[in-house]
Amino acid sequence: MRFDVICFGALNVDKLYKVDRIASADEESEILDFKESPGGSAANTAVGLARLGVKTGFIGKVASDREGKLLMRDFIDEGVNTDGIVVSEDGRSGTVIGFVDENGERALYVDPGVNNSLKFHEIDLDYASKADLLHLTSFVGEMPFQAQKKLIEALPEISVTLDPGMIYARKGLAELKPLIRRCLVFFPNEHELKMLTGKDYERGSEILIKEGVRIVAVKLGARGCYVTDGEESHLIEPFKVKIVDSTGAGDAFCAGFLYGIINNKTLRECGVLGNFVASRTLTEMGARNGLPRKDELPL
Ligand SMILES: Nc1ncnc2c1ncn2[C@@H]1O[C@H](COP(=O)(O)OP(=O)(O)OP(=O)(O)O)[C@@H](O)[C@H]1O
Ligand SMILES: [Mg+2]
Repeated sequence: MRFDVICFGALNVDKLYKVDRIASADEESEILDFKESPGGSAANTAVGLARLGVKTGFIGKVASDREGKLLMRDFIDEGVNTDGIVVSEDGRSGTVIGFVDENGERALYVDPGVNNSLKFHEIDLDYASKADLLHLTSFVGEMPFQAQKKLIEALPEISVTLDPGMIYARKGLAELKPLIRRCLVFFPNEHELKMLTGKDYERGSEILIKEGVRIVAVKLGARGCYVTDGEESHLIEPFKVKIVDSTGAGDAFCAGFLYGIINNKTLRECGVLGNFVASRTLTEMGARNGLPRKDELPL
């Protein structure tokens, strides 16, 4: 079996508590509601791709606890292949515990759990080599970051795409170079690009292209996206929608854009597809609920 894309990043269960107010040290506060959902940036993108009919696999690590089973179950239900996921006998699966008050203010606590202990030798190289494209997102821990670098070194022919998120953007350009050099598409948001290059999205993208990135797709929130391959550049306006929840918009953008890449769309079309898939998740609660099917795409 071949895969169009294998996604590789942290796997987390998001546990969101609605509270009357966010408690400070030595205070207590009441929990009004609770919602649990499978998450993780690469995982959300994987589900987005699978919904669009893309053959998608995953590399990551969970524990054999209730949360790990929830993460696996959801992938299976969505048609994401789970054979590349390491299931640890001990430890905890990754969780993000969030408290949201009535004004929408949030406090987030991340427990990386077994995500942090994913080692290169645990990865099934044969599985990874079955992908045309490897989509990477961040891990908090150093060990899985090293594993990602070693994996792309071990697979010199595979195309790599990367959504750095804040965690990898913070590492800086020098530390990210081994990944950036290999990037077919690099997916920062404007803030992350600024952090990495100190420049605006046009100048910042130029710097990344010089470092070896083939395509830079910058997510610009309510202004859509900016895409460039160093020869052509497009600032693409977003789809206008009524926004319910912006969780996972960036991950959905990657799914739409990668669908375009896989289907040989033009650079501009890839950007439009990214904006479209992102806009659909904005209209529903949660990172995955609004993700569209292939027949709903505008092109
Ligand atoms: N207000 C909006 N209206 C329409 N589209 C939007 C809006 N906000 C975001 N988008 C779409 O979502 C995409 C990704 O959003 P954003 O730029 O916030 O990415 P991000 O910061 O990586 O998100 P995330 O927090 O999910 O990681 C944008 O490129 C755009 O297509
Ligand atoms: Mg993002």
